[in-house]
Amino acid sequence: MAETRPLVPVVTIDGPSGSGKGTISRRVADQLGWHLLDSGALYRLVALAGLDRGLDPESVAAHAALAETMRVSFGADAAGAERVNLEGQDVTARIRLEEVGQGASRVAAWPPVRAALLERQRRFAEPPGLVADGRDMGTVVFPGAVLKIFLTASAEERAARRHKQLKDKGSAVSLAALSREIAERDLRDSTRAVAPLRPAEDALIIDSTGLSVAAVVERVLELGRQRSLWS
Ligand code: DC
Repeated sequence: MAETRPLVPVVTIDGPSGSGKGTISRRVADQLGWHLLDSGALYRLVALAGLDRGLDPESVAAHAALAETMRVSFGADAAGAERVNLEGQDVTARIRLEEVGQGASRVAAWPPVRAALLERQRRFAEPPGLVADGRDMGTVVFPGAVLKIFLTASAEERAARRHKQLKDKGSAVSLAALSREIAERDLRDSTRAVAPLRPAEDALIIDSTGLSVAAVVERVLELGRQRSLWS
């Protein structure tokens, strides 16, 4: 269903895996004091819920039903770190597992799953504003967004960033294996029939290769200032 212009301002930040969307979106949301939608986490939650319930990994209908009914909540712990709950269980660490990411990419290619998550995602648009991070935030979920960013980085840099993130968490995954997985996932996300990964026509493209997080955040904030979205 087409979305009318959202009543609250929405900034969309789309891009491929490892482009730094998650970190940038969180920092921009913090700076503005706006809400954050990590839409990838919702796809990860569908995949994880399916695994936990022992669903047939090929059953589209069963995953779409889960996408509709699963009970999820996003919050922060006392130190301000993100906490994600699924059916009352803290799954913050589990949704980030590589196998869950792969599962998310598979279920995300199924139109009924995407349709089931559409309204759920739009409900995150609450005052004073929302920063929405994903693949189709600017093209499908929030086409009326006031600012649309498409964040990219070279495939090598994205694999290296992911490698460092996983290493910091104690996972020993080879850089070569990660590069392969990122390439596979990029291909699947950008060639799927429904909501493929591509910039919205009115998106502004930022290539973060070689840029610091702070520099990218500043660029996004500056783009908003230029458009008088904030001061
Ligand atoms: O950003 P991420 O790695 O957490 O996303 C997990 C998967 O979900 C990714 O392979 C693509 C998919 N996804 C999507 O199709 N649409 C979104 N808006 C967000 C994520």
